[in-house]
Amino acid sequence: MLTRRSLVQAGLAGLVAAPTIHRGTAVADASAAGRPFRIAHLTDIHVQPELESAKGLASCFAHVQSLPERGEAAADLIVTGGDTVMDCMEAGRDRTQAQWDLWKKVRADACSLEVRSVVGNHDVWGWTKSKAKTTGDEPLYGKKWACEQFGRAVPYESLDRGGWHIVLLDSVFPHAEGYIGKLDDAQWDWLEKDLASVAAATPVLLVSHIPILSVHPLATAAAGEPGKDGKPSFALSGGLVHVDHPKFQALFARHRNVKACLSGHLHILERIEFGGVSYLCSGAVSAGWWKGRHRGTDFGYAVVDLHRDGRVESRYVPYGWTART
Ligand SMILES: [Fe+2]
Repeated sequence: MLTRRSLVQAGLAGLVAAPTIHRGTAVADASAAGRPFRIAHLTDIHVQPELESAKGLASCFAHVQSLPERGEAAADLIVTGGDTVMDCMEAGRDRTQAQWDLWKKVRADACSLEVRSVVGNHDVWGWTKSKAKTTGDEPLYGKKWACEQFGRAVPYESLDRGGWHIVLLDSVFPHAEGYIGKLDDAQWDWLEKDLASVAAATPVLLVSHIPILSVHPLATAAAGEPGKDGKPSFALSGGLVHVDHPKFQALFARHRNVKACLSGHLHILERIEFGGVSYLCSGAVSAGWWKGRHRGTDFGYAVVDLHRDGRVESRYVPYGWTART
């Protein structure tokens, strides 16, 4: 367990600030059925050798683990939401190794809670071959390096906790030298079977890096080609939101026990209630890639409480970090 003494030894004392709760509902616990299952959703960490981000991440872990000292329920599980490291997609082998080494060290030194991880686009090694100088034949090419770091054979999985079924998706697939948000056919097949195996009374949470649904692409869209009726349209990037969203809508119509979808990627706070599902984008541990706030979103993480009756409560908790120069 992280203590103040261990923080002092790590040179991190003083970095842990009191939480400022600025969204949602504080959770007092206890539905009649018992305490909700609590996830700390730490997304878009982007750890890197620069900007003291390792200290920032350590202070974030410390903040999560200090919840009981603040009179709150402890997090039962940390879920990292992708973009664990600053960037591997365009990075060479040495830079990629340095970033994963940093993640591994901070996690080992500063976190005693269970961590499960989603893969983000910046965790994928070498897809931008022209910059990363990769061939595609490297043993750790693509998502394999991240899977090795996360101790998994494939970049998606599901688990049952606190009366909930929790699905961690891999939403990053190649497009040219970059990526788009989707599931491939193999993962769709797996997801269909996975949800079919869950009792209808068991609530389901999906976690993806790229949002399954978001208004952010619309809010930032340029004008697109006029539609068939000649009316103006918007150009929405398939790199910002899942291009296979209609398939999710059809899936959710068959599985009404899917209650919420958590995401990252956009470094913003967003909450959409649509079709009986809550779509929650959880800001970023790194805020604006460690350089400051991003679109008003502070350095923070989401505390997500999964109640046994299917209710989901999420609030964003800044952990007191400010940008270093
Ligand atoms: Fe990111």
